[in-house]
Amino acid sequence: MNINNNIKKILIDEKTLEKRIEEIAKEINEDYYDKNPVMICLLKGSISYFAHLCEKISIPLEYEFLRASSYHGATSSGQIKLLHVPTIPLKNRHIIIVEDIIDTGLTLSAIKKVMLEMAPASLEITTLLDKPSRRLTSEINPKYVGFTIPDEFVVGFGLDYNEEYRNLPYIGILDEAVYKKN
Ligand code: IMP
Repeated sequence: MNINNNIKKILIDEKTLEKRIEEIAKEINEDYYDKNPVMICLLKGSISYFAHLCEKISIPLEYEFLRASSYHGATSSGQIKLLHVPTIPLKNRHIIIVEDIIDTGLTLSAIKKVMLEMAPASLEITTLLDKPSRRLTSEINPKYVGFTIPDEFVVGFGLDYNEEYRNLPYIGILDEAVYKKN
């Protein structure tokens, strides 16, 4: 089976992703040049965006990883569970949370609350994709957004459907036939 065959449409191709990520990296270079930020990768979906973004940033920074689960298949369960939390002290540090996609915003809202309890000097969010039409909270205002997309279920570049499709190098809209089969 070739996973590319289950993609109805390529929404954002590799070149477009790289170009936009480069632009965001430049902005972070300027905004954080003297701040030594801690980049927090939200596992697992943000891994591709995190890696591509961080390698394009040229100021000193540190990596951290946080894992929360919220989704089962293509619909939100509305619940989050923290499975892995950062280990380095975040007090008085400048934090940038790196997210793959913001949909309802409920996951990030819960994560933000946990992060703020650690008393960082600042906390900003970058998301590769944003689906603002689906937002259920006003607390989430990402500073750096890669692409605003319509209300479609997308996969690739780290994003999954039931753990598959993360390894596609582009963002694609999954064929509905895949959901119907499951
Ligand atoms: P939220 O709490 O509704 O904002 O959900 C955010 C999380 O849901 C993301 O980090 C993704 O893991 C997942 N998610 C939301 N929309 C999609 C999608 O279109 N494709 C794959 N995962 C998604």
